[in-house]
Amino acid sequence: MPTVTLDGTDLHYLDAGKGPSAVLLLHAFPLHGGMWAQQVAALSARHRVIVPDYPGLGQSTPASAATTMDLVAGQVRALLGHLRVERVAVAGLSMGGYVAFELWRQAPGLFRGLALCDTKAGADTAEGAAGRETFARNAIDHGLGWVADQMVPKLLKPSPDPAVMKAVRHLVGEGTPAGVAAAQRGMARRPDSTPTLATITCPTLVVVGEEDGLTPPAEAEKIAAGVRGARLARIAGAGHLANLESPAAFTAALGEFVDGLPA
Ligand code: MLT
Repeated sequence: MPTVTLDGTDLHYLDAGKGPSAVLLLHAFPLHGGMWAQQVAALSARHRVIVPDYPGLGQSTPASAATTMDLVAGQVRALLGHLRVERVAVAGLSMGGYVAFELWRQAPGLFRGLALCDTKAGADTAEGAAGRETFARNAIDHGLGWVADQMVPKLLKPSPDPAVMKAVRHLVGEGTPAGVAAAQRGMARRPDSTPTLATITCPTLVVVGEEDGLTPPAEAEKIAAGVRGARLARIAGAGHLANLESPAAFTAALGEFVDGLPA
C-alpha cells in the first residue's frame, strides 16, 4: 500500500483499479480506508478507486493536533494532484461526508459527482463539541478498547451481525488514541455545511441506512432536499455503517450512481 508524505504527514492510501474514471472514498470515524474493502472490490473492476486514511487513523501517521475537515480536504487535494487525478466521483460516509463538503467548498471543479452517505450537514452544538473534547481525553487515557466500546454500538444497527461487529472493532483497533482524539477535535470545529447544500451543482446521491441512529434518515432527507436534483437511497437492514451492514444494497446504489456519471 503506498504512502505519500504531505506537509509532514505520511498519508497512506489505496489506489486500485484502472478504469478511465476515478472514485474517491472517504471513510468514517474512528475507522480507516479499510472499511471500504467491499466497495473497492466491486468498483475497481470498472473504475480507478482511491482511498486515503486520515492522519492517526489506519496507517497514516502521525496524528494531527486536530484533524480538521480543512486539513483532510487539503491533503486529499494534494494526494489527487500527486496521482494526477483531475476529476473524481467523491463518496464520503459520515466524517467522510464532512470532508466531502469541505472539499466541495475548496475545489468544486474536482467533482464528477458526490455521494453523501450516513452523514449530516449541520455543525455541532456547543454541548456536542464539548462532548467530543471529553471523548478525546478519554480516548487518550483509556485507549482504543474504550473507544470501540463507546462507538461500535452507535455505528451499527440495534441488533447487529456479530461478524460485522467484530470487523468494526478490528478496524477501530487499527487507529491510534491520538488519531481518534484529533479527529474528534477536528470534527468539533467543522463549520455548518447547510449553506453549502444549495451551492452543490454536480450529480448527487444521498444514502442512508434505515436504522442509522447517529445520522438518522431525517438528516439525509434534509441534505437531499437542499441539493438540487439529489436522489435519496434508503438502505434496509443497515445502521450508520450502511456500507458494512448491507454491503450488497449499498454497493449497488453507489455503483449504479458512479457508473452513470459522465467521465
Ligand atoms: C462518523 O461515523 O464518522 C462519526 O460518527 C461522525 C461524528 O461523530 O459526527
